[in-house]
Amino acid sequence: MHNDVLDLRSLAVPVIAAPMAGGPSTPELAAAATNAGGLGFLAAGYLTAETLAERIAAARALTSGPLGVNLFVPQASVAAHDAIHRYAATLEDEASRYHAKLGEPRYDDDHWAAKLEVVMDLRPDVVSFTFGLPDAEQCSRLRALGIATVATVTTLAEGEAAVARGVDVLAAQGPNAGGHRGTLDAAATPPTQPLDQLLRATTIRLGVPVIAAGGLMTAVDVADVLAYGAVAAQLGTAFLLADEAGSSPVHRAALQDPQFGETAVTRCFSGRYARGLRNRFIDEHDAAAPFGYPEIHYLTSPLRAAAVRAGDPHGVNVWAGTGFRKAKAAPVADIIASVA
Ligand SMILES: Cc1cc2nc3c(=O)[nH]c(=O)nc-3n(C[C@H](O)[C@H](O)[C@H](O)COP(=O)(O)O)c2cc1C
Repeated sequence: MHNDVLDLRSLAVPVIAAPMAGGPSTPELAAAATNAGGLGFLAAGYLTAETLAERIAAARALTSGPLGVNLFVPQASVAAHDAIHRYAATLEDEASRYHAKLGEPRYDDDHWAAKLEVVMDLRPDVVSFTFGLPDAEQCSRLRALGIATVATVTTLAEGEAAVARGVDVLAAQGPNAGGHRGTLDAAATPPTQPLDQLLRATTIRLGVPVIAAGGLMTAVDVADVLAYGAVAAQLGTAFLLADEAGSSPVHRAALQDPQFGETAVTRCFSGRYARGLRNRFIDEHDAAAPFGYPEIHYLTSPLRAAAVRAGDPHGVNVWAGTGFRKAKAAPVADIIASVA
């Protein structure tokens, strides 16, 4: 059954450039990771289906090796109208500060059906999912097309649910990870179980290959997760300063700015828990922020765009894992060589 799909154990270098939606992931970054012997990913989140198709074609033109695409799985809304309204009222000062208007706290499914069609049509070697799970029929359709499926999980129970749907591989995301936590329950506090324990539990109990993610920055970190049974290490933050990354100038500067000493997990930007540099926006709004992804994402989006235009790292989400201090500005090939 697994004959035709990519076996992640066969990568020349067991390092994956994590999908990073919102700018950092580019066709150039994905292709460079693959060309260095690892596996590059494109991030479909927030894009239109047409743009996703263009990016897959662009990456394909830059590498003949394997390519991954990551999709956000839509979830039922957990937003409470009143809570969002109250939170919006607390953001009016931010709107004046950045001369911006609050966005419409709307719901959408990130063009799920259209993006699934794009991947079934263009057939990247790997499709990974976050925020939710593909159903059993989607898993078998993808596999029949020669596409390996990967589910992001943050607990053993989520891993069991993913394997029951028929995914080929798990991406075990530990608590140090930058960006959104992949927690399946959008209204749950993300687990804090250390990555090594999550890896041990999933690799021993579930019988599918497991990718490790979260806070991995060095060759020792990568060797450690492989020793715990992972088939590959997925690194995001380590590539945020890569030459080929599309990280914004504000994001790049903040990651190297000594005024930022730590990261925090917050839902104040998007209504879903994510880890980023602890800045003024988090300090002032974390406590008041309700659940509600993607409604809060859309509510704060114009504020964050205005802060980026103003070059202000205190008004925008600067996603980063706990290891951000070790991120290096270098070509992807050099970063991969330094961790392999
Ligand atoms: C800026 C940024 C954007 C991210 N976007 C996505 C995404 O679109 N899809 C996804 O599955 N994971 C996303 N992640 C999480 C990564 O897949 C991965 O779990 C994480 O980067 C691992 O932790 P690290 O950043 O410490 O290496 C993102 C992470 C960062 C830092």
